Amino acid sequence: MKRPDSKAASATLQTLHRRGVGHGQVSIDTTNRKAPLPNAIKTRWNAAQPVHLPGLLLPGIEKHAGEIRDALNIMRRVRTGESCIDILIEEPFASRLEPDFDLLSPVHSGDAQEIEKIVFDAVKSGELFAEDLWMKVSCLSFFDDDASIRFRFSYGMEMFKNQEDDPLREALAAELAARVFPECSILSEHAQLIELLTDVLGFAPAFVERIIYSNAPGGGAQFHQDVENDHVGIVYAQLYGHTAWLALPRADLLRHICDFLAADDSETFSELRDMAKNATRLAQLIESDEESNPQEALETLLNATPAFTTRLIEAGCGLTLAPGDVLLLPQASTEHCCWHSVFCLDDAALEHPPGHSLSFAITRTA
Ligand SMILES: [Fe+2]
Repeated sequence: MKRPDSKAASATLQTLHRRGVGHGQVSIDTTNRKAPLPNAIKTRWNAAQPVHLPGLLLPGIEKHAGEIRDALNIMRRVRTGESCIDILIEEPFASRLEPDFDLLSPVHSGDAQEIEKIVFDAVKSGELFAEDLWMKVSCLSFFDDDASIRFRFSYGMEMFKNQEDDPLREALAAELAARVFPECSILSEHAQLIELLTDVLGFAPAFVERIIYSNAPGGGAQFHQDVENDHVGIVYAQLYGHTAWLALPRADLLRHICDFLAADDSETFSELRDMAKNATRLAQLIESDEESNPQEALETLLNATPAFTTRLIEAGCGLTLAPGDVLLLPQASTEHCCWHSVFCLDDAALEHPPGHSLSFAITRTA
C-alpha cells in the first residue's frame, strides 16, 4: 500500500479491512479533489447525497498542530489503559477547563462499550451554572484487533435525549469539547464553511453533540444513519489519518440491496431475499434493531459482504478522506438521509497510526 500522503493525489487501489473482514482491494477515484460549486452542494445536500469538501481545513490543521498532537497523545494514553480523569487534571488540560468546568468523579452508564464517562459542572463567577455535562470515552467495537475509540460530549440522560431539550446545556457540552480538544474550532469557527452551510440550510448552523473519533487500522464504523430530532445533518472533519467511506441516500441503498439480492442465489440471504421483495418490509428492517435471521443477514450484507461493498464503490458511492477534508452528511429524516460506513485506511506500521477526526451534529443556532 502506498504511503498515506500519496493517497489523495490519484486513483489507487485501497485495501478495505474492518473488524476481521477483508473487503478486498477496491479502486476509489481520488483524482477529483475539487469541491462542488455552491449550487451543486445545495443540490446534493437536498438529495441526501454526501458532500465532500477536500482540503478545506488544511490551514487550520497547520495552525492547531500542537493541539492535534495533544489529542493524539490523549488517545494513545487512553488506549494503553490510562484513566482520562488522570490525564485531564494534568496540564495543559487543567488550565483549559478551569475555572469554568469542574471535573467530578467518573460514573458508569452500563454501556458495555464504555471505557470511561466523566461528569462536569459548569461554573460561572464561582457559582454552579449547569450540571450533568459529560464526556464519554468508548470503544467502537468489541473486536479485539480494533483499537478505534471515540470521545462524545453531551449532557443529561443518554437514552432519553428527546425528553431533554436544553439548548444551554447543549451549548455548554459543545464548549466543554472545545476546552479538551481546542482544535474543534478548526470546524466550528471556519467562516467559509459557516457561510456555505448558512446558504445551504437557510439558517446559521450550530455544532452540537460533538464526537472526536480516533479510527484505528482494522476499525471504522458499520453502515448507519444519524437522524435525530432538531439535527439536520453531520459535519465530519478528518484532521489526522485517512478513511474510506461508503455514503449514499437511503433510497439508493435500499435499491442496491434489492438489486444485489435479486442477482444472488446464496443460502445466506434466502430469507432476506424473500423479504426484500416487499419494499415496505425491507425499509422497516433497515431501521429495526430486532434480533432476527433477516436482520442478521441484512447486517452481513451491509457490513461483511465484499461483493456488496464493491458494487457500491463501482456505483460511485465510495470516497476517501485525507487530513483537511470535510464531509457533510445530510440527515433530514429517517426516509431522507445519507447512510454511511467508514473504513480506516491507515497503515498500522506508521508511527502514529490511529486517526483524529471531528464529527458534529448540525442544528439551528439557539
Ligand atoms: Fe455517522
